[in-house]
Amino acid sequence: METANVNRSHWSSRWAFILVTAGSAIGLGNIWKFPYMTGTNGGSAFVLVYLLCIVSIGLPLLMAETMLGRRGQGNPVAAMGVVAREAGLGRYWKIIGLIGVTGALLILSFYSVVAGWILEYTLRATAGFDGITKESAAAGFAGLLADPLRLIAWHSLFMVMTVFVVARGVTGGIEQANKIMMPALFAIVLGLIGYGMVTADMPAAFRFMFHFDVSAITREVVFSAMGHSFFTLSLGMGAIMAYGSYLDKGTSIVRTCFYVAIADTAIALLAGLAIFAIVFAKGLAPASGPGLILQTLPIAFSQMPGGVVVGPLFFLLVVFAAWTSSISLLEPFVALLIERFAFSRKRAAWATGGAVWLLGIAVALSFNEWSEVKLFGLGIFDLLDSLTTKIMMPLSGLLIAVFAGWMMQRRHVEDEIALGGKGFALWRMTLRYVSPIAIVAIFLHVIGVVG
Ligand code: PFF
Ligand code: NA
Repeated sequence: METANVNRSHWSSRWAFILVTAGSAIGLGNIWKFPYMTGTNGGSAFVLVYLLCIVSIGLPLLMAETMLGRRGQGNPVAAMGVVAREAGLGRYWKIIGLIGVTGALLILSFYSVVAGWILEYTLRATAGFDGITKESAAAGFAGLLADPLRLIAWHSLFMVMTVFVVARGVTGGIEQANKIMMPALFAIVLGLIGYGMVTADMPAAFRFMFHFDVSAITREVVFSAMGHSFFTLSLGMGAIMAYGSYLDKGTSIVRTCFYVAIADTAIALLAGLAIFAIVFAKGLAPASGPGLILQTLPIAFSQMPGGVVVGPLFFLLVVFAAWTSSISLLEPFVALLIERFAFSRKRAAWATGGAVWLLGIAVALSFNEWSEVKLFGLGIFDLLDSLTTKIMMPLSGLLIAVFAGWMMQRRHVEDEIALGGKGFALWRMTLRYVSPIAIVAIFLHVIGVVG
């Protein structure tokens, strides 16, 4: 059961791995979540901490998690079993895989509902947003949230799309989907930036995101920014480990992960600039929360020449970005069912998708019928988001850093991370000291133990 399986599918090339991993990383986190979190967390303060977390925690962990997947050659739970045994350690390290595969499903339940919003806006955009004002844009979004059946219908469609790709398999489904969708996404984000430069308030957006006002850094900002650095790079949820397990031995983990982190960060910053340029040009509120992009972009599309074409195209690409991420959220658990419980891929994908779909219905209802349902003062949507992003991901990341940095034998690590001399030492030092200490310090800071 816990032997490395050398007959698993593999990505067709190094480029394919970069593409699918970037596909997982780049998603709603960049285009929907990053702008609104930046807006609600004081702009540049959030951006600064987020960037620091990407460099000191995110990138080293991205490499570590890919390494564990490739070395373990199995779904996240099995892979952790293999690498732990190789290091002479017990089965309990599989907990990393377990936190991952279950956390990924929790994320998928709300991710799919939000992707459903984008599907709705793709449709709305084809009709154009003629005569839209900031009031009617806000009302339009509120109207969607108040409509449980519509939310559930879109969520259902998105889950079917996700299951459909995962059911088709690693190279035939996941890789193919990414090859088509990712290049298109890059093009359209650049286009939107161009629009922002020409017609919206780009200098104000720059100031808001990059004037680095250190005094605005609060506990909540730090906690949110750390959580988001995990979310945006898909860390700690088995997605990267699962994708790494389909990676060939010969491919450089360092180089590929580096490209992925750069691409992910670039898309987030570009999306943020484009959105805030519109926000400030139109006098909208940066801190309007999860509806931010849905209340700003329609206004831009309504005024842009050719907006009826660009609008739907843009939202469609956000759907694509979400789709290439959602398949990476479903795959780890599906791989577990296939390898551990002998499910066929098809059955595993539909069964897992069905369970996530049910939970997603609760998320959809939390915006309307069940808006009063609270736990720890949070509604179902906020609870799932906070639990996964702020707690499960950093916890899993901490365990990965400790395992890869301290528990694995150095020669095994070196064998996987083909990085000469100084580079290797720098990565390993960061993974052993900087990342775990930063994560623990932030946790302690949040619960008030350290200032
Ligand atoms: N990284 C994705 C995004 O930024 O939208 C979200 C995500 C995908 C998180 C896969 C976690 C994961 F395992
Ligand atoms: Na991302």
